[in-house]
Amino acid sequence: MKKISIAIDGPAAAGKSTIAKMVAKKLNYTYIDTGAMYRCVAYATLKQGLAFEDEKAVSDLLKNMQIEMKPEGTIYLNGEDVTSSIRQNEVSMGASIVSKYQAVREFLVEKQREMAQGGGVILDGRDIGTVVLKDAELKIYQIASIECRALRRHKENLERGMASDLEAIKKEIAMRDEQDMNRQISPLKKADDAIEIDTSEMSLEEVVSRVMELVESKI
Ligand code: CDP
Ligand code: CDP
Repeated sequence: MKKISIAIDGPAAAGKSTIAKMVAKKLNYTYIDTGAMYRCVAYATLKQGLAFEDEKAVSDLLKNMQIEMKPEGTIYLNGEDVTSSIRQNEVSMGASIVSKYQAVREFLVEKQREMAQGGGVILDGRDIGTVVLKDAELKIYQIASIECRALRRHKENLERGMASDLEAIKKEIAMRDEQDMNRQISPLKKADDAIEIDTSEMSLEEVVSRVMELVESKI
């Protein structure tokens, strides 16, 4: 069967990575979480005690940055397992700041394209259909209402045993969406040829079925 490339973009907590992982498993494709890579840059910035706003210092960090993403989902940054630490709120906000910088985007986009070579991949992020994989055979723009997205993230935090405040999450993701949609380089937007799926009223299984239908129409 033909192996295609699938791009899933959309705002924070729309369910992109959950769906991408489920679809990748069904198709035996490689899943690439590009948000985790921006999170690694933010985490490294914090760890070095640098300010996210210091573009020069953040850009300089890239020279010594080794990001490794294992097929089972573990993420290493310069040999350290950062899989859970990059999910902290502070890192989410930081990722949204450092992702504005040209040097950061160029560095990560190049890596993402290398990893996606050959097809049989699903990448999720903000600029996959518009920049990273402009020629992807299938592009999905996955959205859900802000209330729904905040509630999902809140439930997820509680399930992981993390402290969580619904109103604070709502504010954080709204702020991140605003930043991501209005930055100069590669802002979050629906690619002209992307298919929009509003998952607000859909179960995970319904979203997966919809994506699988679209995949089947392409292969
Ligand atoms: O990757 P992204 O930030 O877009 O979202 P996620 O981390 O995959 O999903 C956020 C949460 O929403 C997860 O706990 C999902 O199980 C849940 N969820 C969903 O993604 N889609 C639904 N239709 C229902 C719930
Ligand atoms: O899981 P969630 O949707 O909350 O965030 P994420 O996908 O892990 O991305 C974290 C941040 O990285 C986003 O708010 C964006 O600022 C940035 N990002 C980006 O600019 N481009 C991508 N392809 C992926 C993430």
